[in-house]
Amino acid sequence: MCRVIYLEDNDIVHMRKGEYTVYNWNDVDSASVEVRRTIQTLTMEVGQIMKGGYDHYMQKEIFEQAETIAQTMQGRIKATPLSPIKFGVPNVDRLLYPRVRLGGLVDFVSTIRRSRRIIFIGCGTSYHAALCSRQTMEELTQMPVVLELAGDILDRRCPIFRDDTCVFVSQSGETADTMRAMEYAKGSGALCVGITNTVGSAIARSSHCGIHINAGAEIGVASTKAYTSQIVAITMMAIVLADDQISKRKRINEIVDSLLELPDAIKKCLLLDDSIRSLAESLKGENSLLMFGRGRNYATAVEAALKVKEVSYMHSEGINAGEMKHGPLALVDEHMPIIVFATKDEMHGKMQGVIQQLMARNARLIIICNEDEIDILDMVGDRYPLIMVPNADEALQPVVNIIPLQLLSYHLTLLRGFNVDQPRNLAKSVTVTEE
Ligand code: G6P
Repeated sequence: MCRVIYLEDNDIVHMRKGEYTVYNWNDVDSASVEVRRTIQTLTMEVGQIMKGGYDHYMQKEIFEQAETIAQTMQGRIKATPLSPIKFGVPNVDRLLYPRVRLGGLVDFVSTIRRSRRIIFIGCGTSYHAALCSRQTMEELTQMPVVLELAGDILDRRCPIFRDDTCVFVSQSGETADTMRAMEYAKGSGALCVGITNTVGSAIARSSHCGIHINAGAEIGVASTKAYTSQIVAITMMAIVLADDQISKRKRINEIVDSLLELPDAIKKCLLLDDSIRSLAESLKGENSLLMFGRGRNYATAVEAALKVKEVSYMHSEGINAGEMKHGPLALVDEHMPIIVFATKDEMHGKMQGVIQQLMARNARLIIICNEDEIDILDMVGDRYPLIMVPNADEALQPVVNIIPLQLLSYHLTLLRGFNVDQPRNLAKSVTVTEE
């Protein structure tokens, strides 16, 4: 248990010998008058913020993802007789709707459905989670879905309208750019939805409604478990928005069933740890590492590259494989290591084409594919290392695919001798903006 006070804009705290007084500078005339801020109690267990049996927070946070994803879904999903009863109440009729209930959105669903567009706004990994989930949101809601980097929205003063829904994605709920983008959106009269991991955070408090991802405290600067839980939360939001459409029910059932299987798929994926460590050994001396993905796995590629660069300090770049011919191919030779995401989704055929083109240029590939893959195996034989991951619905396959890359960035960092939990020049929560 710990006791906290939340400061408001322009608050100043004077601390002296364990005593504190809060003043507020909003109004210069009353700046010397003490203001009251309520003390709140956080019910966070000490064990939750310790490393458990792990060497580093990042490692712990990677390994607890089967549980954190289950927590994100806990009490929000209805299982059916055909799907395992794991995280919710059994539902006797497969067509009994809704399958997903998000308490924080209930009163706002019809407003969101009537919006002109849904705009996702975030920074870093949180932005990538939105990038990954956009297609599911589009597929289920058939609404225009736009992505914005929080800082860029402010730089451009981009037009936002009162019939827009702006969804602010932030692990900490305190990122200054995201917070300022929310103030800007509020000024335009848009509905502001917060997706955060921190109850009581600035974004959670000032949004009109939202979803807590319930992934538990994330301490490592490199975001891992928050990313996977954010994708699950946005996917559940898409399901909630689409559950009034009978034509979408079959698809919703497929995604919900895969959501329920996801923790087991992640557990299986974590068993790859030893082989990923060996892969990291073979890559630790490289200067650069490229990641090629397409469709939803473009997000996996950019998020994987962010993980590698932020903790291991190795240059890494996520590339949309659809853009390969428009520049990136010039980087391909027999030395440059390239990780290719080629799991079984609607991009599978195109990614096989990408692998063929890269093979024709004698590229040095590492291929992420599914456990039951046959075509790619036939194509590459034992020429390249294959990382075989469990299957999931294509809407959720990126959640599985990112796990080996989180492990890779963790091992690369240790092997290169750097601090995995606190990389240089970075902060967990960036509470200042560039002026
Ligand atoms: C910082 C962190 C990143 C994080 C980003 C957004 O840059 O180092 O790991 O993705 O902020 O943080 P948020 O808390 O808003 O998700």
